[in-house]
Order: sequence, then C-alpha cells, then structure tokens
Amino acid sequence: MKRKDLIKDLVKGGCYLNIRSAKISDVNRINTLISSYAERDRMLFRSMADIYENLQTFTVAEADGGVVGCCALEIIWSDLAEIKSLAVDDANKDKGIGKMLVNAALEQAGRLGVPRVFALTLEPDFFEKLGFKVVEKETLPMKVWSDCARCPKQKNCDEIAVIKSKLK
Ligand SMILES: CC(C)(COP(=O)(O)OP(=O)(O)OC[C@H]1O[C@@H](n2cnc3c(N)ncnc32)[C@H](O)[C@@H]1OP(=O)(O)O)[C@@H](O)C(=O)NCCC(=O)NCCS
Repeated sequence: MKRKDLIKDLVKGGCYLNIRSAKISDVNRINTLISSYAERDRMLFRSMADIYENLQTFTVAEADGGVVGCCALEIIWSDLAEIKSLAVDDANKDKGIGKMLVNAALEQAGRLGVPRVFALTLEPDFFEKLGFKVVEKETLPMKVWSDCARCPKQKNCDEIAVIKSKLK
C-alpha cells in the first residue's frame, strides 16, 4: 500500500485524527492557520476578535494533539448556510482532512435542518469532488455579501460559488 493510501486509511479509521468543536484554547492556532493562507491571498483574514465571537461555528481537526485544520459553518438564513475559513495546514494536505471537515459541516447543517450549504472558494474542484455544484455568485442572496465590505478584493472578486443542496 502506498504511504498516501496508508495515511488516508488511518485518517478514515480515526486512528489519530479527531474532528471536534473548537475550544477557546484553539483560537490562536485557528488564527495562524487562516492567516497562513490569507497572507497568500487564498482566503479572507479573520481577526482574533472575529474568531472568538464566532468560535461556536468552528470545527477543528486535531492530529497527535495539535490542530491541523479548521472549518466554520455559519447560518445565513432558514435554508442556507456557508462554509467559511476552511484550512488544512500545508504539512497535512491530501490526507482526507479537508474532506472530513467539510463532511462534518454538512452533517451539522443537516442536523440543524438547513438544506443548502455554499462556499465562496478558489478551490472549486475540491468542492466539486465532494458533490458541490458551481453556481453564479449572483444567485446567492444579498445577505451573503456582508463579508465583501471588508475584503480587499471587493469588485475584483475571483472567488467561485459552490453549493450543495438537499441535505435534509
Ligand atoms: C482545499 C483544502 C481545504 C483541501 O484540503 P485537503 O485536506 O488537502 O483535501 P483532502 O485530502 O480532504 O482531499 C479530498 C479530495 O479532494 C482532492 N483535492 C484536494 N485539494 C484539491 C484541490 N485543490 N483541487 C482539486 N481536488 C483537490 C483530493 O485529491 C481528494 O480526492 P480523492 O478523494 O479523489 O483522493 C486545502 O488544500 C486548503 O486548506 N487549501 C487552502 C485554503 C483554501 O483554499 N480553503 C478553501 C476556502 S473555502
């Protein structure tokens, strides 16, 4: 078995990876993870204050005692939630962790009774592999655009909207 497949099996078998709700003690690490990609223009920065305020929306992936990935699920409206701030650290990419974090967010949305989950992303192929469909950004409700006000790209937005429906 290839090393990559072995790690995937370990991850899938839950041998050393723990997907759990975020805690106060994770905030620094979440901030570092997000900032490492935001500095490369791959996602939006989240301040410490913003992460504390929205900590209950965050799920983290923990491996060998350290947080290696994070993902937030924010409710937008009665029928729509957003996956935000999905990040897996460089050293742990391609081990199935991103997929597990997204699946955890989808399960959470299903439990809450929210039938559709979308993301704005520069990685649409990753989301398509998980059953999301690319849609025109303009089809999403106006409430989605509150983050745009603090985004440096604003009118030059290069993010692609992906959505997954019928979660109930
Ligand atoms: C995108 C990201 C979350 C993927 O996480 P990951 O843990 O490396 O992905 P996984 O190992 O779970 O991959 C699941 C599947 O998607 C594929 N995949 C991973 N990244 C991909 C990408 N960028 N494009 C296309 N497919 C991708 C994997 O090959 C795997 O396919 P398989 O099931 O057929 O083997 C991670 O690369 C990341 O943090 N990127 C930077 C931040 C970012 O862009 N986040 C999204 C913002 S919404």
